[in-house]
This record gives sequence, C-alpha cells and structure tokens, in this order.
Amino acid sequence: MDTNRLSKKIEDILNKQAAKEAEAAQVFLSYGCWADSEGYGGIANFFFRHVAEERDHMMKVIQYIMQRGGTVKITAIKAPPADPKNLQDCFEKTFKHEVDNTTAIYEIVNLAHEERDWATYNFAQWFVKEQMEEEKMVMDLLDKLKIAGGPKATDESLFNLDKFMAEAPDEAPLARDASMDNPE
Ligand SMILES: [Fe+2]
Ligand SMILES: [Fe+2]
Repeated sequence: MDTNRLSKKIEDILNKQAAKEAEAAQVFLSYGCWADSEGYGGIANFFFRHVAEERDHMMKVIQYIMQRGGTVKITAIKAPPADPKNLQDCFEKTFKHEVDNTTAIYEIVNLAHEERDWATYNFAQWFVKEQMEEEKMVMDLLDKLKIAGGPKATDESLFNLDKFMAEAPDEAPLARDASMDNPE
C-alpha cells in the first residue's frame, strides 16, 4: 500500500526547496567568511547566525516530506557565488537571494493550491510569513547602511554599523522556535 500523501510534483518541488535552503546557507556562509576577512566581525556573525536559520528551514522541509510519507532526496548544492565587492553589494545580493527564495516558496503555494493539497498549502504558509520577516530584516540592513553613508560611508560609520550588528539581538532563535501554531 502506498502511503505517500504527496504527489510526484509536490515531492519534487519540496526536495528542490530543501536544496535551495541548503544553498542559501552555503551562500551566507561564504558572505560571513568574506565579511570576517574584510574585518567586519559583527556582520560575519550576523551571517553565521543566518546560516543556522537557513539550515533549519532545510530541515523543516525535509521533516515535512518525511511526515507525509514522501521520499527525501539529498542532492549536491551549488558552490556559492563570487565574493561581494563591498558591503552595499553584499547586502543587495543578500536581499536578492531572499526575494528569489520567496519566489520559490510562492511556486510551492501555487502548486499546492492547483493540486488542492491543503496540507502542503498550509505548511508553505509558515514560509510565506518567514520570508516576509527575512526580507524586512535585509531591508533594515540596507537602510542602516544608507544612514551610515552608503557608498560614501566612512570607516568610522562602518565600524559603528559592524558593532551594532554584533550586538543586535539574534533573530535566528525566534524563527527556529516558530511553528505553525506559534508563527511568531
Ligand atoms: Fe530560508
Ligand atoms: Fe532566508
């Protein structure tokens, strides 16, 4: 008896999403290492915390596939892109990664809706909300960099921004603790 509650298409798109979250972790890991090599220890830590969050997203998708009786396929992940040119470039690319991921989540929502797979539809809603938070977090980063002077930021203002990032509350545990019942 087949107890897989996921269609082939849904199973595939969820496996793809798990790899995408792992890829996001890999990208932010490389950005963290880049930031550290540039002397921005606080920003590096921000990215390293974010890596843990993306890995949690990956696990969340994997656990859902297993819970529904589907088959998880762990695949290779792409190498991270080239290092950012500067902080502005780094934050802009981070924003773009998050927006790309939101688009992928919307694809899952669309497919679940199309197939009337309300369990997956419901599952994907957690990620819709999570992506809103993540996009907002990176928008705030870009705002802070703008206030610091953007491309004309002085070493002193970047020093302060980095210090702020080191001391900023860790948002990762909040997302980790979240569940469908308690999405905050
Ligand atoms: Fe994610
Ligand atoms: Fe993310």
